[in-house]
Amino acid sequence: MSSSAILHCQQLGKTYTEGPNDVEVLSSVNLHIETGERLAIVGASGSGKSTLLHLLGGLDLPTTGSVWVDGQELSRMTDKQRGLMRNQYLGFVYQFHHLLPEFSAIENVAMPLLIRGVDKAQAFERASRLLGDIGLDHRLSHRPTELSGGERQRTAIARALITEPKVVLADEPTGNLDIDTANSVFDMMMELNQRVGTALIMVTHDNTLASKMDSVLRLDHGTIAS
Ligand SMILES: Nc1ncnc2c1ncn2[C@@H]1O[C@H](COP(=O)(O)OP(=O)(O)O)[C@@H](O)[C@H]1O
Ligand SMILES: [Mg+2]
Repeated sequence: MSSSAILHCQQLGKTYTEGPNDVEVLSSVNLHIETGERLAIVGASGSGKSTLLHLLGGLDLPTTGSVWVDGQELSRMTDKQRGLMRNQYLGFVYQFHHLLPEFSAIENVAMPLLIRGVDKAQAFERASRLLGDIGLDHRLSHRPTELSGGERQRTAIARALITEPKVVLADEPTGNLDIDTANSVFDMMMELNQRVGTALIMVTHDNTLASKMDSVLRLDHGTIAS
């Protein structure tokens, strides 16, 4: 069943222990994502969407169950191996972009390529082209604090897409953007999906965007509702 999945999880659960109380925020989530598949994740605030995305991307470890990326189980890896898997397979768009403040836009975008060992000239060339594609060619050497919210978010998207990853995990990537910027950010992800078969997993509150994906998964208090 799971052999062709680029990303899958079984019986995924997460429980936080806060003082004397255990808080179960995710339970029994099974997912099977194929190459090129596009999945929207929706649900009320606090339903566990970000938690699920973090677990799928190996940024956090589950309490129960497992996640496999290209058949390799994330929870059996060391932190370093997981970091390497993320760099080689995944692109992550965070809710609050998490750009490195001391680096310029082009340096932030080139970083995943440099970590992969791509030479500097080529990495910067590609970062420059990608930033140009989303209308930021005049902002290459600006630091995050010198960019607007929308520009920061577009820079973060470019950083997630620059390696042409097998899977993009995006947590409300268009959340705080005006409609034009939101559409250009979404189009960038779709373009990569069409051109190289990148699977997209996107948390969104936007029903119009969700309806453009292949399927919609609704979380309700940490379980799949549909
Ligand atoms: N580190 C944590 N410790 C305790 N509870 C947490 C932690 N992170 C998230 N939660 C709780 O888990 C639930 C799901 O959070 P989250 O995944 O961020 O939801 P969503 O992204 O759907 O809004 C929330 O009730 C939140 O308070
Ligand atoms: Mg969230």
